[in-house]
Amino acid sequence: MKLDRVISVSNDKIIYRDSNKCIKTFISGYSKADVLNEALNMSRIEETGLKTPKLLEVTTIDGKWAIITEYIRGKTLTRLMEEEPDKKDEYLELFTDIHISVHKTSCPELAPIKDGMNRKIICCELDANTRYELFARLEEMPRHNKLCHGDFNPDNIVISDTGETYILDWSRATRGNASADAARTYLLFWMRGDISGAQKYLDMFCAKTETDKEYVMSWMPLVAAAQSVKCNDKEKEFLLSWTKNNK
Ligand SMILES: Nc1ncnc2c1ncn2[C@@H]1O[C@H](COP(=O)(O)OP(=O)(O)O)[C@@H](O)[C@H]1O
Ligand SMILES: [Mg+2]
Repeated sequence: MKLDRVISVSNDKIIYRDSNKCIKTFISGYSKADVLNEALNMSRIEETGLKTPKLLEVTTIDGKWAIITEYIRGKTLTRLMEEEPDKKDEYLELFTDIHISVHKTSCPELAPIKDGMNRKIICCELDANTRYELFARLEEMPRHNKLCHGDFNPDNIVISDTGETYILDWSRATRGNASADAARTYLLFWMRGDISGAQKYLDMFCAKTETDKEYVMSWMPLVAAAQSVKCNDKEKEFLLSWTKNNK
């Protein structure tokens, strides 16, 4: 395995390409359970028929966990939007359509979205009353069984050189309410500083799925509180502000 072509770097992962393989390596100390869960999610998604890079191997390289998948030659939607700003709205519509196609997919083996959200809300940095309120509100929200990506943003969509659409990065996949997943995507656009993208995405999502925007907004404090648990200080401050202003 040659690890000399880096394609992406983050705090806890480095991703390499070696000819037609993609090698996602995790830093030492990264939870083994999380690596295995990500690989398991990927294999489950493959079985649904959605287009996603095929999982080839889970291994260790120099003591670090690594997930090896097929490498998809192409460009992410983020890159396409940057390269062709005139076509940004077109790409946003494609992005929204792909998200809706995810929600039309069923993957019953995945964990329910509410389980993880409950666990995270309990330990987020909010006072006990607010946590209890959010906890009670989450209990009342409708329980659905749609496939939710959990980190649906334009970095995680690759359009291949042959024009096929691949969805990557299933580490946070669950089953549950599509509006919670849409709320998460809205917040992800905000966190990238793309507020007009967030609004356009949400408008399109609501129009295409005939969902009341207020309903998606009602998920926002719950999703923000849950998401504030594993992130940096700046993101935490932003997410916790959503839990206070939008009750
Ligand atoms: N199988 C793949 N084929 C092509 N590019 C990939 C593949 N997997 C990841 N990438 C590239 O690496 C980036 C980060 O990968 P991702 O799995 O989303 O990791 P992270 O958890 O860091 O977001 C993607 O945005 C994409 O540009
Ligand atoms: Mg990603």
